[in-house]
Amino acid sequence: MLFFTLLLEVIWILAAEGGQHWTYEGESRIQGLPLPLSHWDLFTCREDFFRVGPHGQDHWSASYPECGSNAQSPINIQTDSVTFDPELRPLQLHGYDQPSTEPLDLHNNGHTVKLSLPSTMYLEGLPRKYVAAQLHLHWGKTGSLGGSEHQINSEATAAELHIVHYDSDSYESLSEAAPKPQGLAVLGILIEVGETKNPVYEHILSHLHEIRHKDQKTSVPPFNVGELLPPRRDQFFRYNGSLTTPPCYQSVLWTVFNQRAQISVEQLKELHETLFSTEEEPSKLLVQNYRAPQPLNQRIVSASFIQVQSSYTTGEMLSLGVGILVGCLCLLLAVYFIARKIRKKRLGNRKSVVFTSAPATEA
Ligand SMILES: *[C@@H]1O[C@H](CO)[C@@H](O)[C@H](O)[C@H]1NC(C)=O
Repeated sequence: MLFFTLLLEVIWILAAEGGQHWTYEGESRIQGLPLPLSHWDLFTCREDFFRVGPHGQDHWSASYPECGSNAQSPINIQTDSVTFDPELRPLQLHGYDQPSTEPLDLHNNGHTVKLSLPSTMYLEGLPRKYVAAQLHLHWGKTGSLGGSEHQINSEATAAELHIVHYDSDSYESLSEAAPKPQGLAVLGILIEVGETKNPVYEHILSHLHEIRHKDQKTSVPPFNVGELLPPRRDQFFRYNGSLTTPPCYQSVLWTVFNQRAQISVEQLKELHETLFSTEEEPSKLLVQNYRAPQPLNQRIVSASFIQVQSSYTTGEMLSLGVGILVGCLCLLLAVYFIARKIRKKRLGNRKSVVFTSAPATEA
């Protein structure tokens, strides 16, 4: 009896600690297929040995209730339903061009690659002063197009950069500010594949091979972090949302830039194929670490700019084009037949003239 009580205690403690564990796989991504074995933590995760069951993003809210709340991130930004706000001024980035003289810590935490940032970097232009704490990336996997967390008009890009700041007027640290309303300000930069190697992103990507396994760290010489942002910083979306990882605190004032940053296809490949989410063998690639878009619910997304894009989608444009083509063809055919009819009639008239006049000449 005592043995059983002890065993239950051990299970309970392990289960409680296991609450820290989460992964990205979710049923929504597998769509109807039975869960693969790797989805079950009994087989993949020692610290969670007693908690048989999926820990993918569809189940985050079981251990982290806020993940199931109604103002979550990321979102799909529908540009035809954003609200233009002329008050939204471009953020001022202080200390971004030369963050420090000290090297910066780069860390594989098993969920992402994270670069620590010094408090000499901060944002102005928000209700309070927000000091930088860290930046990290989200990405997909080789052969899949997605990878970003935010989407614009249902379009995901290859990857996304998040630069995380906290309200230093009100709080002492990132961890203190993280659960508080408007405690955090995060810059979201969508990253797409371009023609050329991006030398600034290389300051991060060239060090990934030094931290292949979970919990490994290295240091990176300071570089111009501001150049990770797209050139047009005056065009952005603003909304109230959350952390995109457990515990999903709804404390983030989001700024998602409209313009994208670009990295080369080789750089994306490095991101896809270098890091592991595990400490040792068996090595499991750290890929597809992005959360699916969450319901907007009653929230408003503000835009700092007026959309200049055409109000037609690609599909509408295509059907419009086909319509015009078919219309032109019909008109051409109609003109052709009418012309033919007129010509026939004229010929007929001439013939009758010939017939009626012929006897006259003979006579
Ligand atoms: C975010 O929430 C705060 C506090 O509730 C509010 O004042 C602000 O207008 C909201 N911002 C946006 C962009 O909705």
